Parts: sequence; structure tokens; C-alpha cells
Amino acid sequence: MGKYVIAGNWKMNKTPAEAKVLIDEIKPLVADATCDVIVGVPFVDLHVALEATAGTNIGVAAQNCHWAESGAFTAEISAGMLKEMGVGYVIIGHSERRQYFGETDQTVNKRVRAALDAGLTVILCVGEYLEQREQGVTAEVCAMQTKIALCGVSAEEMSRIIVAYEPVWAIGTGRTATAEQANEVCAQIRDVVKGLYNADVAAALTVQYGGSMNAGNAAELLAQSDVDGGLIGGASLKAADFAVIVKAAK
Ligand code: PGA
Repeated sequence: MGKYVIAGNWKMNKTPAEAKVLIDEIKPLVADATCDVIVGVPFVDLHVALEATAGTNIGVAAQNCHWAESGAFTAEISAGMLKEMGVGYVIIGHSERRQYFGETDQTVNKRVRAALDAGLTVILCVGEYLEQREQGVTAEVCAMQTKIALCGVSAEEMSRIIVAYEPVWAIGTGRTATAEQANEVCAQIRDVVKGLYNADVAAALTVQYGGSMNAGNAAELLAQSDVDGGLIGGASLKAADFAVIVKAAK
């Protein structure tokens, strides 16, 4: 399966000064990690995060980017701007963006395209609402989100795509998907990618689980055959907890 990637999604937390403190705490704890380690920080923390992680094994992600190269899009940030700063990764399509900021499958696709064109690696978030799970359409919803997001993405470019399966009902709720539920949907997503591309692309894809993953449940989730990592919200804001999750990813 894909290589293990543990990414923190700090959301709208930590000022630049606080970001430096947290990264300095995280650094020694994950220095011997056998997986890829990423911190996804607010835009204003990117500079400090890049400085603090220089020469370490920690990558830096932004939490969104616009699809245009430049233009009249007040408050937006382009993928090229991130790339020039030295940012390597961008989270796209997080359910909070979809829920509160009008992000659609179509705009997610445009942002994915722009990020790839700029040379970034994308952490693409997909996941169902509780109602959709109860209606039995989880597989369909995640397949649709994945397929639309990947429209126009070549097999070669798939090496710069990470998919994060994040059931919306598990995000920030303390209600984690069971390891079986997480594995089932991650496997379904991998199967969708196999259908779109081929078995090699599917096998090499990193599929993360996200949604209340923490120091206590990470080992079980990450031991699942189709779960290749995690996108961690709340627990990524505590260096010790984040480090336990990183250690569990092997
Ligand atoms: P959580 O967030 O770990 O706090 O549930 C995960 C995410 O939204 O990426």
C-alpha cells in the first residue's frame, strides 16, 4: 500500500509565535519517524513553520489554495505563492471548507489542478455526512468526491496526491470511525482510484484516515491494511500526542 503519511491539520489555531513553539516541541519527538510527517498550518504561520522545519524531516502544508494564478480574488492565496515560499503540500477540500465556505466538488477539482500545476502535493479530503452514512451511500459519496476531484489528473500526477478519508461525523466530535469502518472506506477509495487509473497507481496511493484520531486509537486505525496514515486535527496541537501517532505509523 502507499507510504505512511501523518499530517497535522492545525485549522485556525496557533499564532506564528505559538507555531514556532509547537514545532520546536514536535521536532525532536519525530526526528526518527519512519513515516512522512507534515504540519498543516494557517497561512500566516507558513513562514515561521518553514524556517522552524528547515533541515528536518517535517514537511509543511497550507490548508487551502485558490485555483487562479493571480487576480481579483480578495483574501485568496494561489498555489504558486505557496510553492515560491517553499511550501510542499496543500490540504484541499476539507469538510469545513465544503460546509462553511461553499466549497464544491467542482472548486475542489479546480484547486487540485492548480496545486498540481504549481508543483505542490495535495492532501485531498473526502468524506460523508452522518445522514449519508445512515442512508447507506457512504461509498457512493466518497467515490463521487474522489472522481470529481481527480478529473484531469494524470496517472503520473497521482504520485503527488494523498487522499484523506474523513467522515464528517467523526471530525472534532471525539467519535472515531471504527477501525473496520475506516479501513472499508479507505479500501473503497483505493478501488475507485484503481478504476480511474490502474492497480499500480492504486497500490502506491497513500489513503489517510482522519476524524478524532488520537494517541489512544491511532495504532489500531493505522494497523488496518488500507489505512496509510492520518490527518490529525485536535491531537496534532499537542506535541506529545502527535508524536505518539507518528510512532504508531509503521
Ligand atoms: P480531528 O480533525 O482530528 O480534530 O477530528 C481532523 C480533521 O479535520 O482533519
